[in-house]
Amino acid sequence: MQDETKPSGTLVIQVLAMPKDTNANGDIFGGWLVSHMDMGAGIAARFEARCRVATVAIDSLVFLRPVAIGDVVACYASMIRIGRTSMRIHMEVWTASPADEVPKKSAEGIFTFVALDMSGRPQPVKRSTRIEDDQ
Ligand SMILES: CC(C)(COP(=O)(O)OP(=O)(O)OC[C@H]1O[C@@H](n2cnc3c(N)ncnc32)[C@H](O)[C@@H]1OP(=O)(O)O)[C@@H](O)C(=O)NCCC(=O)NCCS
Repeated sequence: MQDETKPSGTLVIQVLAMPKDTNANGDIFGGWLVSHMDMGAGIAARFEARCRVATVAIDSLVFLRPVAIGDVVACYASMIRIGRTSMRIHMEVWTASPADEVPKKSAEGIFTFVALDMSGRPQPVKRSTRIEDDQ
């Protein structure tokens, strides 16, 4: 069973939630959080595929608790499946407020990325030649 007291995956982004990132309620805007999850998943996908990548789908996205100004927002990525050209990445967001430094899971979702060639067409993730192989 998954341990819900600590994050699973690799820390890919850590950022402070600022006043400019709020919604009309004064909490942090969900779209801001999703953009960081997307960016974090993109970092994990690019690290795996070593090429351009693009988000093709986002599934099972849930916001578990509000995020407040001043919270430290940490995004964790776990690769859950590598297909021919696609990668499914489970993202978790854990937040910690200045008052209570114990991080809590605030959002999670599954992001699917596709490895792309220089023309923007899907290309295999596991291929014989990669950028770093050419260097
Ligand atoms: C990503 C993109 C190049 C894929 O093109 P495509 O013609 O759908 O390519 P394919 O049908 O060959 O699918 C490529 C892979 O994506 C997967 N895929 C496609 N649509 C999917 C979906 N809705 N959900 C999950 N996976 C999907 C396919 O299963 C395939 O995976 P596999 O090779 O591991 O089996 C194209 O859809 C695109 O450019 N989308 C816009 C991406 C973008 O701009 N993202 C940023 C958001 S603004």
